[in-house]
Amino acid sequence: MIVCVQYKLRFFDVFTVVYIAQCVCHFAFLIVNGNENHLVMVKNWFEWHDLYKNEPKLQQRLQIVQEYIAHSLNLSQPGLIRVVSVCAGDGRDLLGTLSNHPRAKDVYARLVELNPQLVERGQETIESLGLTKQIEFINGDATISSNYVGAVPADIVIVCGVFGNLADETELNRLLANLSFLSKKGAFVIWTRGHSQGIAHSETVRKFFREHGFEEVDFKLTATGDMGVGIHRYLGESLAAPKEQQFFAFTGIPSKAR
Ligand SMILES: C[S@@+](CC[C@H](N)C(=O)[O-])C[C@H]1O[C@@H](n2cnc3c(N)ncnc32)[C@H](O)[C@@H]1O
Repeated sequence: MIVCVQYKLRFFDVFTVVYIAQCVCHFAFLIVNGNENHLVMVKNWFEWHDLYKNEPKLQQRLQIVQEYIAHSLNLSQPGLIRVVSVCAGDGRDLLGTLSNHPRAKDVYARLVELNPQLVERGQETIESLGLTKQIEFINGDATISSNYVGAVPADIVIVCGVFGNLADETELNRLLANLSFLSKKGAFVIWTRGHSQGIAHSETVRKFFREHGFEEVDFKLTATGDMGVGIHRYLGESLAAPKEQQFFAFTGIPSKAR
């Protein structure tokens, strides 16, 4: 009888331990990697853009970004409106807004993106909108200041999906300091920053923007609660020459992008 009880207990213990170990591993995996599907499904930045089809966080983020782009266009002075987009993806935020905005014909934009497939898709959209004479989609390195020469200082600077792909806060500060080359005095800067592991990273971004001479126009969290989208105005003078040739390093990887 005693032997039997002991055996049952041991049997139960083994199952319990294995079960607990599985749970711990699973939760640790989710904490480290966020969305499980992200890690499994996304191999490159082209595939990352497919997440827009199903992920509420990205869909809500896009909606707010487009709202802010439209707001910036509405408030722009009559005449030419210069726009730059850093790490533009397929340009859906700007191009989607221009598709039905009355100031579309006033926009001169340069979008800089490293992935050739995304650039190709963006270029097809530009052609379909009849904006080929005004919008340049450069297949190049957005971290290099020479890729913006001729297109800056801009009235609207889009830096979406970038801040979560920097190594640390020092790198974020370096990029913010260099926005004075991209931005005109009074330029709108539109940005995003995801939260992870319960940390509201967008609050750090807002604090740093203040310290770099930007005024907050508006800030929203997505309804999912884990993605911040902001619009700031640059109040300082724009720099004629960049402070650095390479003004930030993009170190994020698609499977963990936030
Ligand atoms: C998180 S996605 C954001 C895309 C887009 N801005 C958006 O919000 O949908 C990051 C993008 O940065 C691009 N990228 C990564 N390193 C880059 C670099 N050095 N220069 C230009 N683009 C880069 C990737 O190919 C990818 O499209």
